[in-house]
Amino acid sequence: MSFLSKLSKRSRTPSPPKQSQSAHSADMTIQVEYRQLGKSGLRISVPILGCMGFGTPQWMPWVLPEDKALPIMKAAWDAGINTFDTANMYSNGVGERVVAAFLSKYSIPRKDVVILDKVCYLTTPDDISVIGTVRPDLLKTKKYVNKAGLSRLAIFTEVAASLERLGTDYVDLMQIHDWDSTVPVEETMRAFNDLVVAGKILYIGASNMKAWQVGELNAVAERHGWSQIVSIQVEHSLLYRPHEVETMAHALYKGIGVLTFAPLNDGNLARALGTRTQRTAILEGTPFEKKPRPSDEEIIKRVQQTATKHGWTMPQVALAWSATKATSPIVGASSLLHLEQNLFTGKALTGEEIKHLEEPYEIRGYRWG
Ligand SMILES: NC(=O)c1ccc[n+]([C@@H]2O[C@H](COP(=O)([O-])OP(=O)(O)OC[C@H]3O[C@@H](n4cnc5c(N)ncnc54)[C@H](OP(=O)(O)O)[C@@H]3O)[C@@H](O)[C@H]2O)c1
Repeated sequence: MSFLSKLSKRSRTPSPPKQSQSAHSADMTIQVEYRQLGKSGLRISVPILGCMGFGTPQWMPWVLPEDKALPIMKAAWDAGINTFDTANMYSNGVGERVVAAFLSKYSIPRKDVVILDKVCYLTTPDDISVIGTVRPDLLKTKKYVNKAGLSRLAIFTEVAASLERLGTDYVDLMQIHDWDSTVPVEETMRAFNDLVVAGKILYIGASNMKAWQVGELNAVAERHGWSQIVSIQVEHSLLYRPHEVETMAHALYKGIGVLTFAPLNDGNLARALGTRTQRTAILEGTPFEKKPRPSDEEIIKRVQQTATKHGWTMPQVALAWSATKATSPIVGASSLLHLEQNLFTGKALTGEEIKHLEEPYEIRGYRWG
């Protein structure tokens, strides 16, 4: 039975969804859980749909254009996913335009959706093929010298551009995509606080940071009575766990929400070992490649065995594990089938299963810095 026909069957024979804390409890098609983001009052879906793969293949060849992305986003929405994670740099702004097109095409009320966005890395809407993170040379040019990083000017300019592309007055959670050691923390946090006061962003998050960096940002904000960071976003999966040691531990202690990206390790935890896709083929030999180590291969086998034992999919095992460590995993999907296979509400691993999946893991360092 297809995903969509299952959805329509569910709506004909309603039964209350298990583990759902939905504000939409009358909607019987809901297949996901909602959780509170740390100490904030914001409720997000579990999982969150990652939108890095939606935009234009002019940016990266594996990225889906709008006509292929929208049906996946709509199916996610129909399954109860209300939270979508994008960034200004994804497809150099085209990713945000796809989110706008999704809301507009399906007449989805803005207030019913939670949009997570990010700002910091260079975004070049005039040249879509640029990948800002690998072009530090551009930051020295007249055109881009004030367009990236965490200065007041860059934050105000880039957030205004994001709002224009998203076609909305506000972003629910604006995440600082990375640390910028060149700008005083006071300048950055004052700028974000002013955007909160102006109603352009509702909550502030941080991504790719160490615990001390998040602690520093929040200490300064607290000293001035400004809005603080309510969530962190870090790479995390059964195959990549260095952030557990400090950033995630600090977040747990402070009541900061934890969003984890690449929970399927770009697909390694979602399919049989050695499977190549367009995306993995393109990334081979680059710093972005996620090549499994022998210990990782053992974990992938155990994910596969656990999935077979329960009659689940591999992503359901990997994501059910993620949901025991984070507030919500941010998962990508490049087809409707992926999306269907990635919904895991009601699938809980036992303590023994979690131990068995984790046992082969070998400590590894940070991928970046
Ligand atoms: N904060 C940051 O710096 C940062 C960095 C990266 C990502 N993110 C966020 O995290 C989201 C997810 O990241 P990600 O896409 O890198 O990681 P991911 O969710 O671990 O991997 C997604 C990839 O896994 C494969 N996949 C997904 N479901 C599958 C299924 N059911 N069966 C087989 N393969 C499946 C697909 O690969 P193929 O297309 O190759 O089949 C898909 O593109 C992004 O969209 C973005 O929102 C944030």
